[in-house]
Amino acid sequence: VPTSRDASGRLTFTGAPALPFVELVESTPAYVYDLDAIAAEARELKAAFEGEEHLVAYAVKANSAGPVVRTLAAEGCGADVVSGAELAVALGAGVAPDAVVYSGVAKRDDELDAALAAGERGILAIQIESVEEIDRVAARARAARRCARVSIRVNPAVERHALDTHDHIATGHDEAKFGVPRGDVAAALDLVQLHASRGELALVGLGCHVGSQFTSTDGYVDAARTLFGLARSALSRGAFADLRFLDTGGGFGIDYGEGCPPRPADFIKAVRKERAAAGLDALALLVEPGRSLVGAHGVLLSRVIQTKTTLAGGVPRRWLMIDAGMNDLMRPALYQAHHRIVPLVIQPREAVAVTDVAWRVVGPVCESSDDFGLHPLPETAPDHVALLDAGAYGFTMASRYNGRPAPAEIFLRGGAVVARSAAGDARAWVEERLRIASA
Ligand SMILES: Cc1ncc(COP(=O)(O)O)c(C=O)c1O
Repeated sequence: VPTSRDASGRLTFTGAPALPFVELVESTPAYVYDLDAIAAEARELKAAFEGEEHLVAYAVKANSAGPVVRTLAAEGCGADVVSGAELAVALGAGVAPDAVVYSGVAKRDDELDAALAAGERGILAIQIESVEEIDRVAARARAARRCARVSIRVNPAVERHALDTHDHIATGHDEAKFGVPRGDVAAALDLVQLHASRGELALVGLGCHVGSQFTSTDGYVDAARTLFGLARSALSRGAFADLRFLDTGGGFGIDYGEGCPPRPADFIKAVRKERAAAGLDALALLVEPGRSLVGAHGVLLSRVIQTKTTLAGGVPRRWLMIDAGMNDLMRPALYQAHHRIVPLVIQPREAVAVTDVAWRVVGPVCESSDDFGLHPLPETAPDHVALLDAGAYGFTMASRYNGRPAPAEIFLRGGAVVARSAAGDARAWVEERLRIASA
């Protein structure tokens, strides 16, 4: 969310007119998203295709809120979904079935059926993630009396160390559960060809997604090069007349405070160049960005509940205990992610010369990993803080652990609140738990 501070030191949203975040904090924790910035992000990415045919299939898992998906659909984005429920959100938010791809290593039959039933011809592509999945998809297509359009998601077996990202979000190495292993692609093509001859499957794409939060284009382009090599050998069979796109996945990084030199558009430019070098310009590019469209455009607002001072090895440690926990924003606990934390209001005297001290910011959840790390914050603890860059993989990963309700969500456009959802109800959770005990 684009932010600045007004004359009294309050953190403001810089849409017009400037809106102080303090006006939004009647209920915390609360996520706040800037829909204008999300739309602008999509436009910048799409412009990198310079008018050629393409599809930006937004990875709904990053942020599945209706206003967000609707905003991106209105900008011409499609969707990459990973469950029947996400498929329903994408379609309900106005994404055309023809612009939806469905990834995932364990899609249930009913989820495949929903993908096949969408629109006149089913969704654009069910992404095949194993040789074993091919017969399953063909069987569902037979039962639905439809031809399933599929794309083979290849695991290009990029060396783990070549992927400049955290181990838990690297997916394109040979120990990952994702995708058809590079060595099995020929067998997968044989099987798809067999089902295609029976009218059950049509191969429309080949793709890969090797990881997330790339801060350099190198690993992404390496994987794309491997994919393009495999696409050339598939085309050399002369058997896949329906093949129309190459999907190089998502993974474009954002700046969480440590820098991210390439913009998402730079990934597109690099991969377009690589596709031209492979002589594959006749195939359209499809990308599946999630984080880069929404991550920087959401914050998590939280109230400071109390402070605590301890001695760690004789050194005083200041703890700032806030009402947002790992259940609201799981990324730090899940893969040691660091989100910058800033006060919502800096006292005017401090706004001039802030002498920050190191605060260890933690949440209320009973886990040591409920820890947002060390942050420079004013010595006088602020009342409220904002955890920045929380627009992706924030709310969508939230859980009810420790009986904590889902956080509220607030959506801004043009400096005004245009939609909001209330926080979950803790009492409803209590009743639900007790109902089981007395059934
Ligand atoms: C298949 C697939 N596509 C796209 C994405 C989106 O990645 P990102 O949010 O890094 O762009 C993911 C993320 O896990 C994914 O698994």
